[in-house]
Amino acid sequence: MSLNVSRNRITSLSLIAGMLVPGSAHADAALYKTHCAKCHARAGTLAAGLKGQSDEEKASRLDAFLTTHHAEDAQARAKIVTYLVDLSKK
Ligand code: HEC
Repeated sequence: MSLNVSRNRITSLSLIAGMLVPGSAHADAALYKTHCAKCHARAGTLAAGLKGQSDEEKASRLDAFLTTHHAEDAQARAKIVTYLVDLSKK
């Protein structure tokens, strides 16, 4: 019992640590969560639907769209774009 509790604690701590590392996939996922997830629960679904023939085209279309769609902050937007375009390759 007490073993399970401490194991859970370690898991949550490493999750939080992952979100705090700048530039990591965890941080980008956290940005997605903050800005997008309340309306788009599944990042994978959104990523799969991105329009464009190449990663570059997907990224530039998405970036342009997001300037007026819940990601006005340029830095956050750039990270969210990278995160989703990466996800669309998986
Ligand atoms: C307040 C709710 C809300 C939030 C927050 C939100 N969206 Fe949306 N988004 C929508 C709705 C509703 C649509 C559907 C509009 C449509 O398809 O015309 C949409 C459509 C989209 C589309 C499809 C556009 C297209 O033409 O194919 C993309 C991509 C998208 N959102 C990405 C994001 C991303 C990335 C974020 C976070 C930065 C985000 N959205 C945040 C509500 C939201």
